[in-house]
Amino acid sequence: MSEERTDRERSEASLEDVVALCKRRGFIFPSSEIYGGVGSTYDYGHYGVLLRNNVKGEWWRSMLTERDDIVAIDSAIIQHPKVWEASGHVGGFSDPMVDCKTCKLRFRADHIESAQCGRKPSKRPGEGPDCELTEAREFNLMFRTQVGPVADSSSEAYLRPETAQGIFINFKNVLQFARVKPPFGIAQIGKSFRNEITTGNFIFRTREFEQMEMEFFCPPDEAEKWHEHWMAERMRWYTDLGIRPENLLLRPHGADELSHYSSATSDIEYLFPMGYSELEGIANRGDFDLTQHAKFSGEKLEYFDQGTGERYVPHVIEPAAGVDRATLAFIVDAYDVEEVEGRQRTVLRLHPKLAPVKVAVLPLVSKEGMPERAREVFDSLRRRLGSEYDEGGSIGKRYRRQDEIGTPWGVTIDGETADDDCVTLRDRDSLAQERVPIEGLAERLLAKLDEEWTSPKAE
Ligand code: GAP
Repeated sequence: MSEERTDRERSEASLEDVVALCKRRGFIFPSSEIYGGVGSTYDYGHYGVLLRNNVKGEWWRSMLTERDDIVAIDSAIIQHPKVWEASGHVGGFSDPMVDCKTCKLRFRADHIESAQCGRKPSKRPGEGPDCELTEAREFNLMFRTQVGPVADSSSEAYLRPETAQGIFINFKNVLQFARVKPPFGIAQIGKSFRNEITTGNFIFRTREFEQMEMEFFCPPDEAEKWHEHWMAERMRWYTDLGIRPENLLLRPHGADELSHYSSATSDIEYLFPMGYSELEGIANRGDFDLTQHAKFSGEKLEYFDQGTGERYVPHVIEPAAGVDRATLAFIVDAYDVEEVEGRQRTVLRLHPKLAPVKVAVLPLVSKEGMPERAREVFDSLRRRLGSEYDEGGSIGKRYRRQDEIGTPWGVTIDGETADDDCVTLRDRDSLAQERVPIEGLAERLLAKLDEEWTSPKAE
């Protein structure tokens, strides 16, 4: 696993290839397309929903099923406005912006070097003859809304910009009802909203996105140990799910990058097509959040250890990941093009656990009882693992379609099946085919799904 930047600065798949595949195969569409689209907003199609569900399912598995020190929560998107005062988001969650009075565009002051003015020929903002830039002003990234029928300042609220605060404000409830004591974690998956100025790179940075965050509460003197623990665990999660280790790195934040709440943060970065970029942050938030919410709410947010008689505010380690960013990384890492028998084959080499469909059941031709037999096989599999039945078009085309969706196994019912009760099992990655009995097929595939898997693209 790389701890340093490698010489490579670009991954092999281009973003255009990935966007085209996602559209072509029904993973992700630009939102509101029939109205011309809204910038940087996407809708997930059938296979996108299944893939994202698997990403979230694997996160829950690693947080809940495989551990006994974490509990789940699902907090509201609209919370008391004071939450965001206490958290520091009202005062400090902003980017410095400059406006151009001529073209009316707004730019992040710290990104001006890479921005383009709205007028032709394209120039950097401020370099065109008519550009008139304002001084930099702070622009808060939270989406504001009104709650209830009266639109005044008392009804003003925000869409949450992170899921984390919904966990802190429930600390006391969880402590009382979940029978936990530090060290323990509270995990949540849910939508967050940020009025990002610079969006882009497909689903990498959008204004509406989903986060997977876990706040791990521990005794203050154990914080560093747990920070190390969670950095290693989270790196392992990505590599266990097939991301090639050479495409990941762990980068500690410099002092000037740290958020207001953090004493130490490391980002897991992935080699996206636009270069290494943040996939997940793992922060040591200290006692900042519980102390702030105690101050603003007047509630005591601390832990009393009845054994030792000690009372303390736990420190918090936070692995904070994005569902959309992780999904993009899994797709980019899996995307592959190869030549097979003189023809190009595009294939998503997804970890079988993430693949939207695990097995495709295909009659070789749509006659001679094959579709009926294939339907029977499909019915016997679909309740056990994600399956798809497809009988339209040539078998070659159907294989190619499943390859692009990332389906790890294909089961073909042919003329001999009626005689030998066997099918041909095709492997997406090796293209190996073997004749296997229908009896025990589901068990065979479930056993394969449980096997360790490494990307065939791994170095
Ligand atoms: N609670 C800490 C927190 O929210 P963050 O680094 O701002 O930290 C955590 O966000 C993760 O959420 C990021 O690593 C990224 O995966 C995802 N994320 C943040 N902003 C995003 C955006 N505008 N679009 C897509 N994903 C985003």
